[in-house]
Amino acid sequence: MQIVKFVSAMQRLAKKWQRAGIKIGFVPTMGFLHEGHLSLVKRARQAVGKNGKIVVSVYVNPTQFAPTEDLSKYPRDLKRDLRLCRAENVDAVFTPRDEEMYSASGAGVSPVRFKRKLTGETPVPLKNFSAYVVEEKLSRTMEGASRPTHFRGVTTVVAKLFNIVLPDVAVFGQKDFQQATIIKRMVADLNFPVKIIVAPTLREQDGLAMSSRNKYLTGDLHRQATVLWCAIQIAQATLKKSKTFPAAKLKVAITKLVECEPDAKLDYVEFFEPETLSPVSKIARGTQMALAVLIGKTRLIDNARL
Ligand code: PAJ
Repeated sequence: MQIVKFVSAMQRLAKKWQRAGIKIGFVPTMGFLHEGHLSLVKRARQAVGKNGKIVVSVYVNPTQFAPTEDLSKYPRDLKRDLRLCRAENVDAVFTPRDEEMYSASGAGVSPVRFKRKLTGETPVPLKNFSAYVVEEKLSRTMEGASRPTHFRGVTTVVAKLFNIVLPDVAVFGQKDFQQATIIKRMVADLNFPVKIIVAPTLREQDGLAMSSRNKYLTGDLHRQATVLWCAIQIAQATLKKSKTFPAAKLKVAITKLVECEPDAKLDYVEFFEPETLSPVSKIARGTQMALAVLIGKTRLIDNARL
């Protein structure tokens, strides 16, 4: 397995594979890998076949974190990530430093050290970087409403990664449903020659969706976090009983459910059309549900197709 730290080296490797007619499957991550991430790697392998190459990126992307968020605390364990990737027969792990990704001065050149200001409009002012990719419709609701500059950071880094890794196929998790929808839109609107696959959410035995941030859930918080899965199950059960149901009523019920947990605070629960993300007033079979809940200081998201 190759460990690649520089943009130019990754592009060189990808171009070599491309020229040899080898398909490239790509799984972008922020590391601290868990079974959910590894299921995406397996899906990518399935998509490109045994002659294809798999690239995983491990990069905690600063531009998708707001100044108040957990960028500096975000869990990292590159050694372990590399071990897990090796065990999955990943061909290359791309793990650049911040200055490599966000200094336009070029690959490998002594960079301006990455700076992070805590004030100002732009969450992460970067000295040598000023071109962003912005999706303007699907990014406005839910995660985008709660974290206004988040998706700009995501689309920008994913576009960059696509230009660096040159994948034929990229796999994203349903766990971040809105993110996957926005990436699909970006790829369609900007004609990226990449096939996007969205793979199912892997869960712990108690239903909690796997997430690198679950590491923060110490003591009773892990149990309280299963309230997201409970909310989804309540919505599923409601639809089993009646074919349609008012979204507003279910929102009230779920708000009450979340309030029962001492350290839980509901950020949002939404019912919407899966492609357009437009809210629906009546839920029915096929309606998408998503919610975000703060458990202590940890913000968790989950979603499901009803
Ligand atoms: P990260 O949170 O590390 O997630 C990387 C990929 O793993 C995403 O596509 C995410 O949806 C998927 N994933 C996370 N938890 C999962 C689970 N329980 N089951 C299945 N898949 C899961 O999402 C990001 O990183 C970043 O925003 C990124 C796309 C890498 C851009 O920086």
